[in-house]
Amino acid sequence: MTEQNIRTLIRRAMEARMNSYSPYSGYMVGAALLCDKDVIIGGCNVENAAFSPTNCAERTAFFKAVSEGIKDFRAIAIVGGHRDAEKLDFAHPCGVCRQVMQEFCDADTFQIIVAKNESEYQIYKLRELLPYGFGPDNLKGDL
Ligand code: THU
Repeated sequence: MTEQNIRTLIRRAMEARMNSYSPYSGYMVGAALLCDKDVIIGGCNVENAAFSPTNCAERTAFFKAVSEGIKDFRAIAIVGGHRDAEKLDFAHPCGVCRQVMQEFCDADTFQIIVAKNESEYQIYKLRELLPYGFGPDNLKGDL
């Protein structure tokens, strides 16, 4: 990915974060999922008074894409931070979101960009964040 593409993806994640529905935690997360054909799908966390139905920003983006028939993914940018904080954190994806990535993405090529801003970011491969992940290949008996 070029520097310009990374910046664009981070900016789109920041835009998605503005839609975060997080009245309970106050922690706003945005994600931007880079798909095949350069399509970018945004997502934010969506909380719930019953707590457990809360959906993370990353999964919102994945489920939006899959429900629109998109299943080829190249990278995701993630930004997060408390609504009252001056700066964003490095908000690494939770375990459940990593597992959803494992379902749809190539662990050795899918890139996870965790950003504080357009120039401060970390890039990981999915396999680094979810080593020995259990995925669709396990059920095919291929491993
Ligand atoms: N959250 C995300 O959106 N993504 C993650 O990977 C970790 C956590 C959200 C869920 C909840 O709305 C808030 O952050 C605090 O946990």
